[in-house]
Parts: sequence; structure tokens; C-alpha cells
Amino acid sequence: MTFDRSLKIAPSILSADFADFGREIRAIEDQGADWVHVDVMDGHFVPNLTFGPPAVKAFRRHVTTVMDVHLMIAPVDPYIEAYAQAGADILTAHVEAGPHPHRTLQAIRASGMKAGLALNPGTPASAAEPLLDLCDLVCVMTVNPGFGGQSFIHSCVDKVRALRAMIGDRPVHIEIDGGVDPTTAPLVREAGADVLVAGSAVFKGGSVETPEAYGTNMRAIREAVTA
Ligand code: DX5
Ligand code: ZN
Repeated sequence: MTFDRSLKIAPSILSADFADFGREIRAIEDQGADWVHVDVMDGHFVPNLTFGPPAVKAFRRHVTTVMDVHLMIAPVDPYIEAYAQAGADILTAHVEAGPHPHRTLQAIRASGMKAGLALNPGTPASAAEPLLDLCDLVCVMTVNPGFGGQSFIHSCVDKVRALRAMIGDRPVHIEIDGGVDPTTAPLVREAGADVLVAGSAVFKGGSVETPEAYGTNMRAIREAVTA
């Protein structure tokens, strides 16, 4: 993985057909996805449950781009090695997940992955500042984590701008997660984001039988950003 700030679309497979992940992953990649975003939820840090390491390892066989794993779990540290073994390229943990995010980021890098730090909508940009040298990515949540299909929280756009200034020349991606669609994508891109996670806005209207809709949906986001 080389670093750049070009626009990247990372469809969240939380909006895929849960009985057909292999074909869904191949469909979004064929249709132009840059990364594949995997939402791990524990029913404790967030009120929903999704995938453990064996499921993520099975997804890996189908991912040819970048597997971007977003942990919405607490605690994080006991599971880092399992997600490394599952093949995550990037492992993102929430700053709110425990008292030692600095140790968590170090452990993620020590396990051979890129380290991401996610911020809930209620967490200020300043929470990331002391940790930026340990981060390869900062994920700004623009919904409260736990579910796909929620509305974008506009007050988070200023936080993206603040983080972009804080990051300066450091090779740290800014990822946006939640409510990204052709109307909200330009706002966060302009504020400095380079990775846009999108679940419902990518998968809507398509299926593994009609994957062209995924391509159309991703193009609509790219075109809105470059317009
Ligand atoms: C929310 C997840 C997101 C979610 C995005 O907890 O982290 O990745 O799937 O879904 P949309 O794009 O539908 O808001
Ligand atoms: Zn996510």
C-alpha cells in the first residue's frame, strides 16, 4: 500500500447480501471499489453484532484491493492478533474503546497492519492529536456507529477540516464513515478527506446479479466530488 490523497471509495459490506459475501466483494471490486470496508461490531461497544475473525478471514480470500477493517468493539487489544491473522491490511480501533488507545495503535502496527483511529461524532478532533504519529488513518464517524443507512451528521465536517490541518504533511489518511452519498461526499472531500466509506449509497438498487448499479452508484459519488 503506497500512500496518497487521491479519492478512494470503500464500500461497506454491511450493506451487502450476508449470504453471499464472496460474490458481493468481487462485484464491488469489479465495479471500481478502491478498498473493501468491513464493519466489526460486538453488541457491547455498539448495539449490533456482525463478524468475528473467522468471517473476516473468509472475506480475505475474495479481496484483491485493500481490506479495511473497522473495529467497533471494546476491548480491542485481545483481538488484534486474530484480525492480523485474518488478513486485515488496515485495522481501525475507536479512541473511545478504552483508556489506552496509544498502546492499541502500537500493537496494531507491531502486528504488521496499518493502524487506524476512529472518532465518534461526539469526540473532538483534539482527541486524535497526541496519537497522530501512531496513525496511518483517522476515521471520522459521521453517524453514530452501529448501523448502516443513518443520516450524515453535518457538524462533523468542521472536525474533518481541523484534523486535516493537524495532520499536515504526515502520511495519514482521513476516512469518512456514515451517511456518505453524492450530496455529502463533496463536503468532506473539500474539508480534506481522501477515503469515503459508503454502504447504502453503493449497494442500493444493485445485487450480485445486477452489479452495474454498484458501479453507477460509485461513479455518482466520484462525479459529485469532482464536479
Ligand atoms: C456504521 C458503519 C458504517 C456503515 C456505513 O457503524 O461503521 O461503515 O456501514 O453505512 P452507510 O454508508 O449506509 O451510512
Ligand atoms: Zn465502518
